Amino acid sequence: MENNTSKNLNDLGHFKQCLTNDDLKVCVIGVGRIGLPTALSFAKSGLPTIGVDINADLVSKINSNDYPLKDEPGYDVIFNEVVTNRKFHASTKIEDIVPNCDVILLSLPTPMDKNNVPDYSALRTVATKLGDLLEPHSLVVVESTIEPGFVENELIQIIETGKKQLIAGESFSIGVCPETANPGEIMTDFTKLPRLVGAIDEKTTQKIMELYKHVFPVELISMANCKTANAVKLTTNVFRDLNIAFVNQLALLFEKLGIDTAQVLDAAKRKYNFQVHYPGPGVGGPCLPVNSYQMLNSAKQFDSNMLSLVKIGREVNESMPNHVVDLLIDGLNEANKKISNSTVLLLGISYKPEVKDIQITPAEKIIEILKEHGAKIKIYDPFFKSTDVFDIKTENNMEQAFVDADSVVLVTAHKEFHDLKPSYIASKIQMPVVVDTKRIFDLDDARNSKLIFRSLGVGNF
Ligand SMILES: NC(=O)c1ccc[n+]([C@@H]2O[C@H](COP(=O)([O-])OP(=O)(O)OC[C@H]3O[C@@H](n4cnc5c(N)ncnc54)[C@H](O)[C@@H]3O)[C@@H](O)[C@H]2O)c1
Repeated sequence: MENNTSKNLNDLGHFKQCLTNDDLKVCVIGVGRIGLPTALSFAKSGLPTIGVDINADLVSKINSNDYPLKDEPGYDVIFNEVVTNRKFHASTKIEDIVPNCDVILLSLPTPMDKNNVPDYSALRTVATKLGDLLEPHSLVVVESTIEPGFVENELIQIIETGKKQLIAGESFSIGVCPETANPGEIMTDFTKLPRLVGAIDEKTTQKIMELYKHVFPVELISMANCKTANAVKLTTNVFRDLNIAFVNQLALLFEKLGIDTAQVLDAAKRKYNFQVHYPGPGVGGPCLPVNSYQMLNSAKQFDSNMLSLVKIGREVNESMPNHVVDLLIDGLNEANKKISNSTVLLLGISYKPEVKDIQITPAEKIIEILKEHGAKIKIYDPFFKSTDVFDIKTENNMEQAFVDADSVVLVTAHKEFHDLKPSYIASKIQMPVVVDTKRIFDLDDARNSKLIFRSLGVGNF
C-alpha cells in the first residue's frame, strides 16, 4: 500500500482530485454501531476503506464475510458488495493501518462511567497512538459525540505530543463531523439527515465537506469550528431529553387528574409550534442520557448550578422506572397480590423499539427495583431470545412466556407487541395485572377484559 507522503493533501484542489480518482485511503477507527455503516458508506463510494477495532472477534467476523449488524437493514447488501470487491476489510492493527491511510475517521465510544462522568478514554488512547503514527498531511475527522472544546483543548494536544511531533494545521489537519444517525434507521438517516462539519481552519472544513459530499447525498452544514459543531449535536439531543422529561412530568400529573396524556399530546401537536414528545419508562440508549451529562460536564467548570434545568430533566427521566414499579404495585394491591410473591413478565428490554440494544435501558433499572422487592422476573424480547440478560434467562416464545406469570409490564414498544391485545393476555393468565408504559394497548379492549390494567400517563382507567 502506497502511503500518503507522495500526495499533497494540503492542497484542496489536489485533495478533490484524489477523491475523484478514488485515490484516498480511509481508515475508520471503531467499527461498531455507527463506525461500521460509516466505513461501508465510504467503501461503497469507491474509496478503499479499512476498519480498525480492538474487538478481535468483530474484526474476524467482518473478515469472514459475516455481517455483524443484523438489526441495521440495508447495510448487509453493501457489506457483501464492498467485501467482495475488496474495497473494505478490517484489522486490529492500528500501527499497520494508520501510516498507510490519508483520512482517519474516529467513531470511538464516548460513554459515561457509573457516576455519570463522560469517559473519553478510547479517544485519548487512540489520539496518543495517532501522535506516533500519522503521516504528514493526514486528515483526522472525529465523528464521536464529544463535549464542545474537547478537540481544541485536549485531543489536538495529545496528538501533538506524540513521537511524530506533528502540529495541527501544519503537519496534520483535524475536524469533526458528529454522527447523528438513529440505530435501526442508519441507512435512511445517512441519506437524509444533514451533517455538521467543523474544523480547526477553513481549509480543513472545506476538505471535510468535499469528502462527505463524495460519500453522502445529504446537506452539509459548515460550522465556525469544532466546538460549535459539537454543541449543535448535543443541543439536539438534550432538547429531546428535556422535552421527554417535561411530558413525563405531565403524565404523572394527568394520571392524578384523570386525563389521558396521549389524547392531550395528539391534540397539542396540531398546533404549529408544538413539537410532540412522548412519556415512557425512562430515556436510555448510548446518546440521550450521556449527551445531557456531557453538556452538564461542560457547564460545571463554570458553575455547578449552570444548566440546572438539564439536571432536573435527568432526575425526572431517571425516576420513571420507579413510577413503573409503583403502577405495578398499585395494580397488584387491587388484585390482593404481593409483589414479593409475583412473577412479572417484562415485554421488551431494548431501550427503543426494533433495535437489539440495551445500553442504559430503563428495563435494567426496572429489573433492579423488582429484584429489590423480591419479585420473580421473566423477560420476552424478540431481539433477545433464549439468552442471558441482566442475569435472567430470556424466553424464546411470547405465548410460552405468559406461563407462570401473574403480571406483565410492557417496557419497549417493539412491533411484535403492537398486535398484542390485553384480552389475549387475559386469556393466557388468570386476572393478570398489566402495565403499559408506552400506551400501545387498546384501552377499550383492556376495559372489556378480565384484567387489572395500568397505563403510564392514563388516569382513572
Ligand atoms: N449508537 C448510536 O445511537 C449513536 C448515534 C450517534 C452518535 N453516536 C456516537 O458515535 C460514537 C460511537 O458509538 P457507537 O454506538 O458506534 O459505539 P459502539 O460501542 O457500537 O462502537 C465503538 C467501537 O469502537 C471500538 N473501540 C473501542 N475502543 C477502541 C480502541 N481503543 N481502538 C479501536 N477500536 C476501539 C469498540 O470495540 C467498538 O466496536 C459515540 O461517540 C456515540 O456517542 C452513537
